[in-house]
Amino acid sequence: MRPYVLLAAALAAARDVSAQNTFDWSKLEPSTSLDWAPCNSGFQCARLSVPFDYAAPSAGSAAIAVIRFPAKVAPSDPAYLGPVLFNPGGPGGSGVQTLVGVAPLFANAIGENFDWVSFDPRGVGFTTPTVSIFGSATETALWNAGAWPVSLNASSDSTALTRIWGLAQIEGQVAAQRDSTGILKYLTTDNVARDMLSITQKMGFDKLKYYGISYGSVLGATFAALFPDKIDRMVIDGVVDVDAWFQANLTILSTSTDAAFNAFSAGCAAAGPSGCAFARSSSTAEQISDRITALTNAIRKQPVPVVTSMGYLLIDYSLLRSIIFEALYSPYDSFPLLADALADLEKGNGTTLYTLVAQPLYQCGDNTSVADSEADVEFAVSCGDAVEVNDTLDELEAFYATAARVSQFSEFLIGRTRVVCSGWKVYREDRFKGPAKAANTSWPILFIANTADPVTPKAGALNTLANFPGSVLLTQDSPGHTSLAATSFCTLGYLAGYLANGSLPQPGTTCAVNETLFADNSNTTSGIATKLGRRASDSETEDVRQSMKSARQRLRRVLGRTKF
Ligand SMILES: *[C@@H]1O[C@H](CO)[C@@H](O)[C@H](O)[C@H]1NC(C)=O
Ligand SMILES: *[C@@H]1O[C@H](CO)[C@@H](O)[C@H](O)[C@H]1NC(C)=O
Ligand SMILES: *[C@@H]1O[C@H](CO)[C@@H](O)[C@H](O)[C@H]1NC(C)=O
Ligand SMILES: *[C@@H]1O[C@H](CO)[C@@H](O)[C@H](O)[C@H]1NC(C)=O
Ligand SMILES: *[C@@H]1O[C@H](CO)[C@@H](O)[C@H](O)[C@H]1NC(C)=O
Ligand SMILES: *[C@@H]1O[C@H](CO)[C@@H](O)[C@H](O)[C@H]1NC(C)=O
Ligand SMILES: *[C@@H]1O[C@H](CO)[C@@H](O)[C@H](O)[C@H]1NC(C)=O
Ligand SMILES: *[C@@H]1O[C@H](CO)[C@@H](O)[C@H](O)[C@H]1NC(C)=O
Ligand SMILES: *[C@@H]1O[C@H](CO)[C@@H](O)[C@H](O)[C@H]1NC(C)=O
Repeated sequence: MRPYVLLAAALAAARDVSAQNTFDWSKLEPSTSLDWAPCNSGFQCARLSVPFDYAAPSAGSAAIAVIRFPAKVAPSDPAYLGPVLFNPGGPGGSGVQTLVGVAPLFANAIGENFDWVSFDPRGVGFTTPTVSIFGSATETALWNAGAWPVSLNASSDSTALTRIWGLAQIEGQVAAQRDSTGILKYLTTDNVARDMLSITQKMGFDKLKYYGISYGSVLGATFAALFPDKIDRMVIDGVVDVDAWFQANLTILSTSTDAAFNAFSAGCAAAGPSGCAFARSSSTAEQISDRITALTNAIRKQPVPVVTSMGYLLIDYSLLRSIIFEALYSPYDSFPLLADALADLEKGNGTTLYTLVAQPLYQCGDNTSVADSEADVEFAVSCGDAVEVNDTLDELEAFYATAARVSQFSEFLIGRTRVVCSGWKVYREDRFKGPAKAANTSWPILFIANTADPVTPKAGALNTLANFPGSVLLTQDSPGHTSLAATSFCTLGYLAGYLANGSLPQPGTTCAVNETLFADNSNTTSGIATKLGRRASDSETEDVRQSMKSARQRLRRVLGRTKF
């Protein structure tokens, strides 16, 4: 199942071999204390035993894979700032895989005197038991390969929606039928929040320092609602409308998606043919947008078959539109690549586009992947958290028709989630069902929203912000998903200052970014040093910028399908 929700975590992982877990977690005995062992050169790993159900310890237990990148200074040093727990989103994103990629980069850009800590949430990755609805990698691969229309608008009638509905009924029933460990109903976000409190306390701290992006904002807000007095610091970035989440109605998510798409046309027109391969001399943004529409319509009539020495692919309407949609997550990196691919595709050549999506072919017997549990946990958590969706197919079609008016890309986000959740069967009655709010948290939460985030718009962040009086929203003036989509020394300065000192920006603060769409972003100068409390020098600034760029590329490689 590939519902494309938050951070595209449901998509099969493309492997970044330079930043992968290589540690054999089965060597560690699960324990009710955090018994750290060295792992992944420079990291420490532990498996924390937690109850499936904190209210009924006999229901079973899970062993949470926890990973730590220790601070540069010892805990006894006055400069030591304690652990920051990071969640990469999903739900179902592997915190272990992500932290192995990004922790040294976060240390460099945000602060090296924190322990950077993450974990694989229940059901995911190196946490046991893992969740696999279809049991074997082979059955999962066959199901994914054959079944799912990528786009709800693949055909002009409602075939795609009805087919997704039907497949979701099957997958939901199979999930319930094969839940041999009984864990499915315990995967919900409230329990993951309880696990975070447990990890924090087992590290010797009473209160949590947290940085969560994308779905990580749902996790953070849920934690804040359940444990408002256990917050030392909390940053949520790329914030979901948390009440909409618990209502299985994510209509609001695509509020800014078209604005992110318009940034492509506008940026391409501004860059001209030397910066944007899809531009012609003196193209306007509108002309570029119209040519993309014409191209997708032409491909709807006649798809483009691609055969290369590495593999083959049929570029059809759904695939092309999903690739354009995915590019909106990371405009500063992906737009130039997308422009190259579209320019070649317009000439009838799909090879460049193929190189963006080519995946290693599935090998029978490949049982090493953690991607399968990510997609399955996404289904289980996003549906299992929310109200039970009892809509008839007619009601779902009506819901989608309304929701689709929000954006030309709504099909990838909104109706789909609700349609898919209509198949889910496993609900725990005493789960936290929202609303996620708290009159007063023990420290104000720092919210971060971009002006044109394609999947977590500022409109949703404002709704969640209203649930937490005293908290502050920082706006980053950029397209892309989460503030990490672009390097902004201003945003990084506030982030670092807040985590270290608790200082908050003035309400209404907006940060510019230090990158330009379609520009050669390889060099920038000065400015961050004071904000980050570092010595001013161009080379250090560049170092931080490169760290952030690598961090966002690694986040995507762990969580995304494309090579954007
Ligand atoms: C879903 O949310 C939107 C607002 O974002 C609202 O207009 C609509 O009525 C809601 N639909 C359902 C079925 O709750
Ligand atoms: C298609 O584009 C690729 C990459 O630019 C190029 O190597 C290839 O020769 C092109 N194929 C054709 C048939 O023009
Ligand atoms: C993967 O398969 C091999 C060979 O069947 C087996 O030895 C190994 O234990 C499996 N690994 C996992 C993680 O299941
Ligand atoms: C869906 O049906 C279940 C079982 O009948 C019921 O408990 C639940 O309240 C219903 N959900 C909604 C949103 O009406
Ligand atoms: C997708 O389908 C919906 C519902 O039929 C429609 O309202 C919407 O305009 C379509 N979107 C695109 C991009 O064709
Ligand atoms: C909020 O909580 C903090 C810390 O627990 C406390 O110092 C403060 O007085 C509370 N504020 C309000 C308005 O209740
Ligand atoms: C935190 O505050 C201290 C003292 O005011 C200051 O020296 C330091 O630079 C601040 N750290 C950050 C990351 O802003
Ligand atoms: C960026 O800096 C490097 C090294 O200082 C230099 O070689 C390169 O030409 C610069 N690139 C641009 C686009 O200014
Ligand atoms: C980042 O951009 C801001 C706003 O344009 C600017 O004031 C600052 O000097 C820039 N910082 C760097 C390091 O280039």
